[in-house]
Amino acid sequence: LEILKPVDLVGDEVKWLDTRFVPWEEIWRKTKDYRRLAQAIKDMEIRGAPAIGVAAAFGMALAALHYPGNDLEGLMEELRKAKEVLSKTRPTAVNLFWALDRVMKKAEEVAKEKGSADEVRNAVVEEAKAIQREDIEMNMKMGKIGAKLIESGDTILTHCNTGSLATAGYGTALGVIRAAWEEGKEIKVIATETRPVDQGARLTVWELKRDGIPVKLISDTMVGYAMSSGLVDKVFLGADRILLSGHFANKIGTYQIAILAKHHNVPFYTVAPTSTIDPKTTLDQLIIEQRNPDEVRTCPYPYQKVYVTVPDVEVLNPAFDVTPPELVTAIVTEKGIAYPPYWVSLRKMLGLD
Ligand code: MRU
Repeated sequence: LEILKPVDLVGDEVKWLDTRFVPWEEIWRKTKDYRRLAQAIKDMEIRGAPAIGVAAAFGMALAALHYPGNDLEGLMEELRKAKEVLSKTRPTAVNLFWALDRVMKKAEEVAKEKGSADEVRNAVVEEAKAIQREDIEMNMKMGKIGAKLIESGDTILTHCNTGSLATAGYGTALGVIRAAWEEGKEIKVIATETRPVDQGARLTVWELKRDGIPVKLISDTMVGYAMSSGLVDKVFLGADRILLSGHFANKIGTYQIAILAKHHNVPFYTVAPTSTIDPKTTLDQLIIEQRNPDEVRTCPYPYQKVYVTVPDVEVLNPAFDVTPPELVTAIVTEKGIAYPPYWVSLRKMLGLD
């Protein structure tokens, strides 16, 4: 299977696939301006926790590459400004902040050591590229680790999009599904449409069809039916932020799937790189992004605004919900599989003890 990279640094430009237009059209965009890239993250041209982390890191690279001066202080100021702008795009996925901190830290280290603007510039670009490369490597590793949990004949339910389009490439939960398929396991996938933005219907189905992995689409309202009818063997989905308690934020609708899985004794796994684990934030500090109400009032068709309701109705549009640890069978990362109690296993995984 060929790995699609939805966002990439090519020369002094960032190019990305505008996922709002998938599956209708493959529109690739490019920019030299980190502000334009920040807008692309905000508007969900690029989306998915690891993908927005990689995009933010490339935004820092753009700021470094296109800062016109050669003075170190000016460059560092430009990087701080870019970090600020990029961090204000989406609040919930921790990968974005993790990537920005990692690149900024590298810039500060090199500035202290060597002190030349060009050295800092190169270091920022190299660090951003390393984040992209390592994300793909982590996904491949998680794929192999997670595939052990899948048996030939399994039907796996997944939610939202956790594939190449949500990461630097290959995918997290979809990476596990891909790896199991590549190992020759005969599996089937049930994909939820994932309203309001339909990442499941538009992106997951598109990716699985490209790979030839059997997929059936259901609306979000059919999960209970599918599980009570014995159609689902396992659930694999992603995460936007995992807390040390084991609570995790993921695409809206994840929580109801977890409840149903528990009720029907269906194993429920979340798959994410350790860059998605946030050792600092507690449950009461977690910010759930609230998005534009029109996402709910209309269907996600980028060519034309079609209202599916009375246009001025009040709506609720949280982009994520939180699933508590008691509903999670295990958490798959590139470092292995964490089992409950998560406040012990996740700390151990991050080497915090
Ligand atoms: O709002 P999105 O599309 O950025 O949300 C994406 C998800 O919730 C994914 O399931 C999550 O980022 C895991 S992606 C590997």
